[in-house]
Amino acid sequence: SDEGKMYVGVDYYPEHWPEERVDQDIKLMKEAGFNLVRMAEFAWVKMEPSEGVYDFGWLDKVIDKFQQQGIKVILGTPTAVMPAWLARKYPAAMATNDDGSQIDWGGRKNNCFSDGNYRRLSERIADEMSEHFANHPNVIGWQTDNELSGPICHCQRCLANFQDWLKAKYGTLDSLNAAWGNHFWGLTLHSWQEVTFPDCEGESDWGKIANPSLCLDWKRFHTALQVDFQRDQVKVIRKNCPEDFITHNMMGLHNNVDYYKLAEDLDFVSWDNYPVWNKPEIPYGSSMAADVMRGLKQKNFWIMEQTAGPVGWGEFARNTRPGELRKICYQQLAHGADAQVWFRWRTSTAGREQYWHGLLGHDGKAGRRYEEAAQVAREYDKLSEYLTETTVKSKVAILYDYENIWATQNQPGFAGNDVQKAISRYYNALFRKGINVDFLHPDYDFSGYDLVLAPGLHIVSKELAANIEAFVEAGGVFATEYRAAVKTPTNLVYDLTLPGLLREVLGIQIPEYEAMGDFTYRMEPIEPDFKSYDATMYSDWIIPEAAQTLIGYDEWHMKDYAALTRNQFGKGHAWYLGTIVDDPAFYDQLIARLLDDAEIEPEVELPAGVEASIRQDEQHQVLFLINHTENELSIKVPENKLELISDRKTNSDFQLKPFGVGVILLDD
Ligand code: GAL
Repeated sequence: SDEGKMYVGVDYYPEHWPEERVDQDIKLMKEAGFNLVRMAEFAWVKMEPSEGVYDFGWLDKVIDKFQQQGIKVILGTPTAVMPAWLARKYPAAMATNDDGSQIDWGGRKNNCFSDGNYRRLSERIADEMSEHFANHPNVIGWQTDNELSGPICHCQRCLANFQDWLKAKYGTLDSLNAAWGNHFWGLTLHSWQEVTFPDCEGESDWGKIANPSLCLDWKRFHTALQVDFQRDQVKVIRKNCPEDFITHNMMGLHNNVDYYKLAEDLDFVSWDNYPVWNKPEIPYGSSMAADVMRGLKQKNFWIMEQTAGPVGWGEFARNTRPGELRKICYQQLAHGADAQVWFRWRTSTAGREQYWHGLLGHDGKAGRRYEEAAQVAREYDKLSEYLTETTVKSKVAILYDYENIWATQNQPGFAGNDVQKAISRYYNALFRKGINVDFLHPDYDFSGYDLVLAPGLHIVSKELAANIEAFVEAGGVFATEYRAAVKTPTNLVYDLTLPGLLREVLGIQIPEYEAMGDFTYRMEPIEPDFKSYDATMYSDWIIPEAAQTLIGYDEWHMKDYAALTRNQFGKGHAWYLGTIVDDPAFYDQLIARLLDDAEIEPEVELPAGVEASIRQDEQHQVLFLINHTENELSIKVPENKLELISDRKTNSDFQLKPFGVGVILLDD
């Protein structure tokens, strides 16, 4: 950004307020130290009041005013809400539900992504808009649409597109039939037109009866369609505004779209952070989401919408406590956010989001939440010089992809099986240790990491299995768990004894397994380091081959089977856990052992509720400490280092106020 300053700003809707209010809003933003606004992402009807008639004058005026105050602008293409005229003239633009009925116009995100008219008009408004603002020096970037994800349309056009997509992917019907295993139930297809809409969600009486292989491709197709839709816009914006960046506001751990694919056409990823305001608790999810978002392109991201107050549509949640808004910003900054935009500036007096509170109340007055946001802006301004080139560097990677999530959603195997939850058991334990983590697509190169975790690795390709073997052989530490390597990339089950392609590297075989419903097994630690815990939900009946058993079972029929194994393979170790443990303390122990194996040590020892993360580059190493509790806490830190917010040198004990943060420069 300008002079290397970080961007801090708000999502602003000038079209919601009387024109005369703008000057006062800008004045308040300026006083708060904001230097950026995002605008227009729902203003299609304002910019194109009737088909082919454009009006950008109102936005020109506002952008000029921002320019006078040195506040930059990002514009959103407005395609998440189609104007009423569009829906009326081109009814096929509205998405079709799975029962064949059509969504009624009147909300947002209700369009069919295949409809030719919708596609044409979406591309055209993006084109007109980016052409109009192309030469405006104050517009620096673009957001495509808003939170792409749905709906999943069931119209004939979408079906034809799905058939075409399958044809492009498989080439011949023989290869499609083989990839999907269509011999089962006699579902062999003899023409592409015979492909039908699958019932994968289990919403109808028929329940989830569709072929899992078909369901996985149906999900992939849904992403491909939206990537295509977004690409139309990206192309015209790049043509008109080659200097501007293009991003999209994603939803963190949301998993209906493959965000890796959606991110490919973007310069960087943005996301919308809405931690839940329940009882104050440790927001593991927001950290994990940040790391997932950073992982998509392996680079820093922006927060495009940051919770600014009590949220809710029908009912609202509690108010934020002093320091709470500030610390959720630092949490994102610490994980690689390079800019942060509050949602929203002022609380709307109209519409569905009347109770979704902004920095300012309905009354437009600047109060406590505004002051806290201003404090963040001042502090970020000061921190900028240390942070601009830094990012998070990790020795630990977690493999994360959408196909595993989808395949498991479609067929969990046992009640409660959820890939993101499985990952979070490990992630949260690493969080409690203050260890930086990178999320990687399984196809990405993970050979440079010391420890690679792959919970929920249901689908394993031959290439991935080979990469895992090579990684461990060369000295890496790898850990996976139950239901690993069951499926092929087209969601067929391998005709191998589990863990299939990973059997050799893990040094175990699993001839049998079971879902556990409401009973548990007592686990029996063989290695004295481990305490005794209960195995729940599922168990692999593991027979160790080359591997060593670290934990077994204390049940008469399970004595011969292992629950946790570790295998030396080449210079490294491969771990396997065959069950789920309720108690997070188990994962703390397991992570401690894995870190030991990988020779990774935490920078600081953390009291419960404090988060640590490090950003670094060639020059600087900056340690963030964030207190997620309402108690004052003290932490042992390296002495005589500069704390960048207070400009004070550290003692060995560092005090954190309730919801307090510390930013410590570790450089010598
Ligand atoms: C986000 C969305 C915003 C706003 C906000 C509050 O998901 O992008 O436009 O709706 O939620 O509901």
